[in-house]
Amino acid sequence: MNKKIAIAIDGPGGAGKSTISKAVAKRLGIIYVDTGALYRTVGYYGREHGLSVEDVKVSEKITPMLDDIRIEIKYIDGTQHVILNGEDLGDKIRQPDISMYASAVSSVPSVRAFLLEAQKELARKNSVIMDGRDIGTVILPDAEVKIFMTASDEARAQRRYKELLSKGIEANFDDVLKELRERDHADSTRAAAPLKPADDAHIFDNSDCDFNASVEYIIKFVEEKTGVKAVEK
Ligand code: DC
Repeated sequence: MNKKIAIAIDGPGGAGKSTISKAVAKRLGIIYVDTGALYRTVGYYGREHGLSVEDVKVSEKITPMLDDIRIEIKYIDGTQHVILNGEDLGDKIRQPDISMYASAVSSVPSVRAFLLEAQKELARKNSVIMDGRDIGTVILPDAEVKIFMTASDEARAQRRYKELLSKGIEANFDDVLKELRERDHADSTRAAAPLKPADDAHIFDNSDCDFNASVEYIIKFVEEKTGVKAVEK
């Protein structure tokens, strides 16, 4: 049996963290934890309760709501489901405006504190590949594998654009690029746990790498670092 491992994947939106991590998790037989989904869920709750994107950045407005939020993370057939007060949110948290809400709530320290323990707990109990913005720096500082995954703005916007279209969500490339840059700026300049590579993270720029090559690259890196073996495709 493989030993217990923790893999931290950080980086800006659209770098392919979630699709690549999901495939790597499958090959390694470990779980994939999408931490962005948790911030999206809190943002979604704020929106459902009448708050604007600007409102949810205000601690006095969003913090009292946390008392009424119960988030459960479940794995069904290996896929993460986020349950908000008993409701499985599915793709509701993938709408483009929820990305902005998620980025906005994630700047509030009480929200980060609220979500911290659930993330650590998953990694205590399971071998994980966890993606987000502060996994290698804050959530899993002792992870034996830390990768900061990035790509050019245009490459990332192109991927996000295609992903939205494939889900039947209407999108415009220029808007996607603009929103992605705004979010990168907000995520990397906030005071609380800003997006940045951990000092011991390996930087992986996959602008010129397709999906399969990226998956193989990460698997090779993990195998070399940890000694665990992935199953063949
Ligand atoms: O990974 P994503 O696009 O689903 O994340 C949505 C937002 O949540 C992102 O703009 C910043 C925030 N986030 C965060 O602050 N820390 C994380 N670990 C994951 C996401």
